[in-house]
Amino acid sequence: MIRPARLALVAAVAAAGLAAAAGTPRTGPRALQWTTPDAQLAVLSAEPGSCLAPAADPQRARSIAIGAVAFRAPLLLGGQAARAGLSCSACHRGGHDNPGFAYPGLSGAPGTADVTSSLFSSHRGDGAFNPRPIPNLSGDKALLTVDQSPASSALESFINGLIREEFDGPPVAAAVLTGLADYVRALSPGACTAQRVIDLAGALADVDAALDNAEWLARMGDGPAARLLVSAARSELGLIDERFALPGLARAAAPLRRAGAALGAIERQMATDPARALPALQRWRAGAGGWQRPLRSAEPRSLFNPAVLARWLGPGS
Ligand code: HEC
Repeated sequence: MIRPARLALVAAVAAAGLAAAAGTPRTGPRALQWTTPDAQLAVLSAEPGSCLAPAADPQRARSIAIGAVAFRAPLLLGGQAARAGLSCSACHRGGHDNPGFAYPGLSGAPGTADVTSSLFSSHRGDGAFNPRPIPNLSGDKALLTVDQSPASSALESFINGLIREEFDGPPVAAAVLTGLADYVRALSPGACTAQRVIDLAGALADVDAALDNAEWLARMGDGPAARLLVSAARSELGLIDERFALPGLARAAAPLRRAGAALGAIERQMATDPARALPALQRWRAGAGGWQRPLRSAEPRSLFNPAVLARWLGPGS
């Protein structure tokens, strides 16, 4: 049963995607699509610190790590949101909130979005435009509304509803849904680290983390979950590529693009035949030095350099 509220959200994301394709520049970081001009430089330069409390139990630690990767994976949300590059972390940056978030048709005031109208709103299912502040998932849990106790599966149900009903996303692999819920549960205001500068090394570490966990899931024979994590790694490659969308940097980014295409083939095979895709993924990772080297040399001239970024964004950012 398709609810009007869900249709409203899917349509808003689709319309905004079309607007972006028609009007605004198509190159450069995707977050520009949903970030107010005054917040762009800050949002593209640094991310809030992670507030993940470490887990002693290795199984739980693995689940949290899978969730942390999925939280950044646009394919999780499916459809137009995935095409726009929107993920959980677009709204909840680094597991926090996002005061500069403004997605046309989805946000009211900056920092708000209409995502739960069919789940929570008193206008349940009537399609009302009802944007709410994006909550800080790393803040005081007493301020949050969804029950996070592991004994109840309210958090899993909420996240599944968000993906399936609000974003019209594809079915979520069980290990991914559990991972997302465990990730949100593990966020704790007492565990926050300092804000993280966004640079190539950090982006490459995100690619690695995604593929480490994809390999683990592939070894478990969980093709659908492994596939989502490989897609997360590809999205991280895209985030790197966007930073090299400047004149004179095409040669440095060409090997990255080829590597991304090769990873795409592994991603597709992963869903159906993880046993065969696993050695291909391991070979891909062993060859990563080849595409990383030219990027490292060109990083100072790319949009990873805050000075280059500031010039590229222009005055007023
Ligand atoms: C377009 C922005 C957006 C995206 C994308 C998004 N959220 Fe949210 N999220 C919100 C907003 C806004 C609320 C608050 C809804 C409300 O107050 O009714 C919320 C609420 C939540 C809550 C409930 C917090 C509480 O009060 O207990 C959780 C948990 C959550 N989001 C996790 C996620 C996860 C996991 C994803 C990815 C699958 C995600 N969100 C994607 C904007 C977003």
